[in-house]
Amino acid sequence: MNIQQNISLKNYNTFGIDVTAKRFISVDSVHQLQQLLKTEKDIFLISGGSNMLLTKDIEKLVVHIDIKGISIDKEDDNFVYLTVNAGENWHEFVLFCVDNKYGGIENLSLIPGNVGTCPIQNIGAYGVEVKDTITKVEAIEIESQKLVSFSNAECNFGYRNSIFKNEVKGNYVISAVSFKLTKKNHNLNTSYGAIETELVSKNIKNPSLKNISDAVIAIRKSKLPDPKEIGNSGSFFKNPVISEMLFLELQEEYPNIPSYRISDSEVKIPAGWLIEKAGFKGKRFGNYGVHEKQALVLVNYGNATGEEIYQLAKKIQETILKQFRISLEIEVNIIA
Ligand code: EPU
Repeated sequence: MNIQQNISLKNYNTFGIDVTAKRFISVDSVHQLQQLLKTEKDIFLISGGSNMLLTKDIEKLVVHIDIKGISIDKEDDNFVYLTVNAGENWHEFVLFCVDNKYGGIENLSLIPGNVGTCPIQNIGAYGVEVKDTITKVEAIEIESQKLVSFSNAECNFGYRNSIFKNEVKGNYVISAVSFKLTKKNHNLNTSYGAIETELVSKNIKNPSLKNISDAVIAIRKSKLPDPKEIGNSGSFFKNPVISEMLFLELQEEYPNIPSYRISDSEVKIPAGWLIEKAGFKGKRFGNYGVHEKQALVLVNYGNATGEEIYQLAKKIQETILKQFRISLEIEVNIIA
């Protein structure tokens, strides 16, 4: 096993935070991972590094999951069933599906990160969540090194949530994810306002998977910073769900407050709107700040530390609590 010493993780996290891994190893097969886990159980996993904020050097062994490969398990006239290894880049997998006319994840184009981590936070965008296409998640139990399989139901998916963030957190390493995608009669989802607008502007009436993917790519590029240019982790906070009562109070004060109804008694508010209203949008503090086009995204302009960005996040939470009586939950994993 090739364990390296003192490796910078700057290129392994999309925030571009420069912390050091005392010990680091990249694994490219399930077998290699199982062998490693026999002796190393206190590990820190890194895959695409797209949903974490590193605030200090990592003392544990950092295990970079680099297991590649896409295979078709079976297909019929209507559906294709694929298993994708954890280290495959998410967006490249989406493009592979769009090219092959496999439908279901085109709305999830250009989301940073790898396939193995997509179930953990149940990635979602533009009216689609990945849970709707996942059939099973394969994972290695760290303690026993056994390869186990979680059905979709066992994953307990919710909004930016799953069993991997809760009950079994830290117990497994996801090695592959299986998907069921459509080959025809695609269930296209263009209802999200911005997609419709984008398609209309291109005069597209019967969109293909590629048209939708292109539209999503254009929308994301116009709003979200490219981590290769400006370090970030996508939405830093979850959109909060508040009570109907608080919503009615806030509506008195802010008649234009946007909202999505969740149930008779609950309403979801875009955190980006709250943060913008609180005056943080586009604010820059030296090396870090709040993205100018989407207030939900915190950014690293250069050599910011994770701690600086974390402090900004806390300041935003305090301000939102004071101004709107809403507590914002951080979506990104803070590694402290
Ligand atoms: N808004 C503002 N100011 C802002 C940003 C947003 O007023 O700076 C308001 C606008 O009214 C807008 C509404 O918020 O209409 C919704 O904004 P947007 O469509 O950009 O979506 P979002 O709710 O801010 C969520 C996801 C994104 C996902 C988009 C599109 C969460 C935490 N974020 O953002 O996911 O791409 O919807 O579906 O649910 C991510 O998780 O990393 C991520 C980027």
